[in-house]
Amino acid sequence: MAGAMLNLIMENQTSTNGTASGFEPRIVAFFCNWCTYTAADLAGVSRLKYAANVRVVRVMCSGRVDPQFILDAFAKGADGVLIGGCHPGDCHYIEGNYKLLRRVRLLHRMLRDMGIEDDRFRLEWISAAEGEKVKTVINDMVEKVRKLGPLQLPQRFRDGDKELEGEQLKAEAAHV
Ligand code: FES
Repeated sequence: MAGAMLNLIMENQTSTNGTASGFEPRIVAFFCNWCTYTAADLAGVSRLKYAANVRVVRVMCSGRVDPQFILDAFAKGADGVLIGGCHPGDCHYIEGNYKLLRRVRLLHRMLRDMGIEDDRFRLEWISAAEGEKVKTVINDMVEKVRKLGPLQLPQRFRDGDKELEGEQLKAEAAHV
């Protein structure tokens, strides 16, 4: 289900990305229903302006964010992924955010190995009352990712596949 939702999000974002005026990062955000999602709502109601580059996926707890969701988002064309969860000690499911934190540390290492810079993947604890922090975090992340430029992972995968095919053909020709 998350995969289908990501497809939809990335399709909708494609049209607003790569405008003639320059690169506009595509950020997928997974926000916990009980804190960061509510804070994003609060930011909207309070007319706090944050960059429109973020597409939010609401989850019931940050601990619900499977590492596969993050990899899928990058593989489908996201330039950055942001996760917002309840502060440590405030998770409605007791330890969902602690579980996520462990996963995030591992994921950072894995993403680095894949050549994905640290600034493209971020975890923030944002309570329901912190509308201002939502704005600051989103704007800061969009700026950092904008400086890094497009990730273009799908294109990199295609190029990698072509390279492998070429190597395979060469190896086969050498054995004929
Ligand atoms: S309920 Fe918000 S992080 Fe668990």
